[in-house]
Amino acid sequence: MNLPTKYRPKILADVVGQPIVTRALTNALIRSQINSAYLFVGLRGVGKTSTARILAKSVNCQTHERPTPKPCGCCNACREIERGSALDVVEIDAASNNGVDEIRSLIERVSLTPIARQRVVILDEAHCMTSNAANALLKTLEEPPGHTLFILCTTEAHKLLPTIISRCQTFEFHALAPTTIAEQLSAIADQESIDITEDALLTLARHAQGGMRDGLQLLGQASLSTDGAIGVEEVIALTGGIPPEELLSLIKAVLKPDVLRVLTQARRWLESGQTPSNIIATLLPTYRDLLMVKGAGQSVKTLITSGLTYKTLSRLTHTFTTEQLNQSLALLKDAERLLGSHRPEVWVEVCLLNLIPGYATQPTVAIHPVKDSIPSTPVSLNGKPSQPLADHWRTIINAAPEKAQPWLSQLQLVSCQNGIYELTGDKTTLNKLSRASRKVAQLIQKTTGDDQLIVITFKPPEEVMAS
Ligand SMILES: Nc1ncnc2c1ncn2[C@@H]1O[C@H](COP(=O)(O)OP(=O)(O)OP(=O)(O)O)[C@@H](O)[C@H]1O
Ligand SMILES: [Mg+2]
Ligand SMILES: [Zn+2]
Repeated sequence: MNLPTKYRPKILADVVGQPIVTRALTNALIRSQINSAYLFVGLRGVGKTSTARILAKSVNCQTHERPTPKPCGCCNACREIERGSALDVVEIDAASNNGVDEIRSLIERVSLTPIARQRVVILDEAHCMTSNAANALLKTLEEPPGHTLFILCTTEAHKLLPTIISRCQTFEFHALAPTTIAEQLSAIADQESIDITEDALLTLARHAQGGMRDGLQLLGQASLSTDGAIGVEEVIALTGGIPPEELLSLIKAVLKPDVLRVLTQARRWLESGQTPSNIIATLLPTYRDLLMVKGAGQSVKTLITSGLTYKTLSRLTHTFTTEQLNQSLALLKDAERLLGSHRPEVWVEVCLLNLIPGYATQPTVAIHPVKDSIPSTPVSLNGKPSQPLADHWRTIINAAPEKAQPWLSQLQLVSCQNGIYELTGDKTTLNKLSRASRKVAQLIQKTTGDDQLIVITFKPPEEVMAS
């Protein structure tokens, strides 16, 4: 079952979420003021090709004497256009036919008199034309044969020659709002008897990131993935996303702040196969939602794109200041850029830790991103100490500069897991550690050869006793 093909809109009124485009084209058809060249610009799967085909039917439908916004769908012309076999309608993909020869032969074809009222050329991925091809087309666009209609579609208008753009009437197809996608999916799920909850539809719709085609494809996949009703969990499993409760738990840890929990969550995600880019792609919209809800409250309820509900977001916003949210967003955007770097997992961890308000100035923790070189005598930890903690700490002290050894000896290693070192000692020594924490982290890394992020936290002795 290919839902996108089955539910391709057949008339302008079926195209959802593009009111400006559909209204303008409907009026143009009613008034018979159709341009000879259109440019449809927008993301993947938002209705460009569908609208182009509708327009082709609208100008050629035989049931009507003149162009109509409601082509019948059953006359020969309409049926042939839907099947892709109409002689008067040429649909070519510039991604694979981008040369000047192909465009020239296309122009020759359209100069012939049509059987129907108009010859229609749908040029998909128009930005893929070579500049020679685009120049060859330019002249025809300028003085088109009276019976032709050109519809250029592109996802990347900025790659088109400005001269091409200026000869077309341009329509922007917008990314569809999650609620718009969810509504359409809901109607289709009804028709297909797919049992899926409202929340699951919204989660699917958010994952589609503005594209209806992706939304429909996901719905089709979801319907095959389970026999019972499809809930949010099934959708998250299908899309490999981060479950909302884990996301919430992370944000709570950030707020608390609980460094260990932030880091443990980050590592759990990475171990369970979440990619750094998926983690950032989940956090970015969440922080954007938080900022939006903080600023505008209820009025932006329908614009929420993250996995959290309005109620949850609204509760969380009270604990963040606008400035903190802005800083976190800037940080996440930066992290997005670093995803292509050498060790994105490390950057993701650093980024999550930095989400903790004031983290960078907290004296209790040293973070130290991994260096690429592995030191000479590594003692592998594999997550757990391979020797008793005291011995392990001793090994580290022995590798320290002589001057530092006495005070380091006054510290005890309480726990050590996944690169998180928890130390305790008397107040004076802990103060010393807090000033030298970065150096100590480097020392640990050098001694153990552990190539992950080293985090040092410390507890006053009372707390260690208590726990
Ligand atoms: N605005 C919309 N309203 C209803 N259905 C839509 C809409 N946009 C896309 N679809 C669904 O997605 C499918 C693909 O849409 P279409 O081919 O028009 O996208 P496109 O914008 O041309 O994408 P691409 O840039 O990938 O070519 C359609 O068959 C239809 O099922
Ligand atoms: Mg298309
Ligand atoms: Zn018709």
